[in-house]
Amino acid sequence: MKRLQQALRERLTPGRFAHVAGVVKTAESLARLYGADPHKAILAAWLHDYYREASEDELTHLAQDVGMALPEGPAVTWHGPICAARMKRDFAVDDEEVKFAVAYHTVGHAVMPLLARILYVADAIEPTRRYPGVEDLRTLAQQDLTLALARTADDSIRYLLSRNEEIALATVAMRNEAYREYRTCNRSTI
Ligand SMILES: [Fe+2]
Ligand SMILES: [Fe+2]
Repeated sequence: MKRLQQALRERLTPGRFAHVAGVVKTAESLARLYGADPHKAILAAWLHDYYREASEDELTHLAQDVGMALPEGPAVTWHGPICAARMKRDFAVDDEEVKFAVAYHTVGHAVMPLLARILYVADAIEPTRRYPGVEDLRTLAQQDLTLALARTADDSIRYLLSRNEEIALATVAMRNEAYREYRTCNRSTI
């Protein structure tokens, strides 16, 4: 893990490194709270933004190098799936849960396993994040991870709408599914 942290310091700006360290802390505590494997949460969090600052050219090369078709959607979302596809080769990590969580931390997925939910929410609420409503989301994440997942997706969708940017169908599907699951579990309207 020390070598990975050193490599991250070389790849990322100090601000982004602090974000990743924050995600590690938050993901570990959510894993302990919701009964996921904290070691997997820590590993997924350290890895999730490894290629976040790679250029579009580098990302294209990294994908082609492992025979992967470029992901759909804007290049800013590619770092998750590309890191997942290269995880075994680059980091000797061959764990399906960690791979899935990293692959879908950018746009989400209709069916989100526990570890993926933890990473998606931790990414949005780690201590260096500052945006309106983040405090409420931090509190909610301690109470109900499914609802926190839905609200995090809402924030992401709202942000993209405000900038006239593309919204991945997977994000909408994840959001709808999380609200459906929450309603089923709580038998109430929101
Ligand atoms: Fe990311
Ligand atoms: Fe991140």
